[in-house]
Amino acid sequence: MVRANEDYLKLPGSYLFSTVARKQREYAAAHPEAKIIRLSIGDVTQPLAPVIVEALHRAVDEMAQTETFRGYAPDLGYAFLRNTVAEHDYKARGCEISADEIFISDGAKGDCGNIQEIFAKECKVAVCDPVYPVYVDTNVMAGRAGNYDAQSGTWSEVIYMPCTAEYGFAPQLPKEVPDIIYLCFPNNPTGATITKEQLQAWVDYANQNGAVIIYDAAYEAYISEEDVPHSIYECEGARECAIEIRSFSKNAGFTGVRLGYTVIPKGLKADGTELHGLWARRHGTKYNGAPYIVQRAGEAVYTAEGQAQLKEQVAYYMKNAAYIRQGLAEAGYTVSGGVNAPYIWLQTPEGMSSWDFFDRLLEKANVVGTPGSGFGPSGEHYFRLTAFGRYEDTVEAIRRIREM
Ligand code: MLT
Repeated sequence: MVRANEDYLKLPGSYLFSTVARKQREYAAAHPEAKIIRLSIGDVTQPLAPVIVEALHRAVDEMAQTETFRGYAPDLGYAFLRNTVAEHDYKARGCEISADEIFISDGAKGDCGNIQEIFAKECKVAVCDPVYPVYVDTNVMAGRAGNYDAQSGTWSEVIYMPCTAEYGFAPQLPKEVPDIIYLCFPNNPTGATITKEQLQAWVDYANQNGAVIIYDAAYEAYISEEDVPHSIYECEGARECAIEIRSFSKNAGFTGVRLGYTVIPKGLKADGTELHGLWARRHGTKYNGAPYIVQRAGEAVYTAEGQAQLKEQVAYYMKNAAYIRQGLAEAGYTVSGGVNAPYIWLQTPEGMSSWDFFDRLLEKANVVGTPGSGFGPSGEHYFRLTAFGRYEDTVEAIRRIREM
């Protein structure tokens, strides 16, 4: 008789953001008069920049003509986009990454979830705690996480690296040596980041221990301070130990358009096997490439006009971040993040649990955020607000929270 994948059955509850959305829906159904403001999932609210819309229109027109119509995209991405990414995101920053080391995809979330497939099931995974749930959940689905302990909220085979206020929410080197290390900076959910020197220490550690770092740099565009690395390849030796994942969702508003990429340097090996070839094999087998029109839109992101328009968009969201930070701090909350990232991480008042604070915020202020404990045990007593809302909504949300 057919059986379901037991590893999936181990997953507790539903995906964090699905639970948050369900709770919001239930509250809205019971209180139809409530004007709910959603500052929970990191989804953008500003329309696509004009330069991107124009590129999409042009590409659609090309698809309407026999001479310029395109069918399947190359499974690793169109050269025009891979070259552009290599030039702007890497060469311009002094990083030695070539176009054929860049794999275009339909978004960073899929890549973050799928990349574990190219590693042995026995590999030991280390994650920050709190952490973007995709890294952990996909390793659970792959049978690599062991068993869940509901009491501690941890998986028996996963190494957790607590990111606490004491260390500025940065992870410390783990006692047990992992094979795969997931790092995300600027960080989701804490909004914290690390310096180039700190990241270099991770690269050195990975190289010394034969580990691979999966570096999620989805929020790179929000970096405002000097000495915060935009790419892990700014560090010496990163080509030998690091995979980097990037997104067009947060820097260019592509959450509904879908585009991202993963970098796997040639020569990066796991026990003698080139990982570049394995990921190329996976792409070839399971993926038919991001749509032509979307890749053209991605290319437009890098034009001078695109860069100027998107800088404004990022500034819009960071104005929200500053407003949230300041408003909450003035109201007596302990807040961090929001300087190099569009997330604000706050301590719940009076030691409330993250989910109790979620309920209180929803009921008293009609504001939806994300409970810190949903990102891991060290997120308990914390709460995440996103700066991706509309400015007027953000101002109103903070007014309501202050009056709570
Ligand atoms: C978040 O809210 O953490 C993000 O939207 C997650 C994502 O980008 O998938």
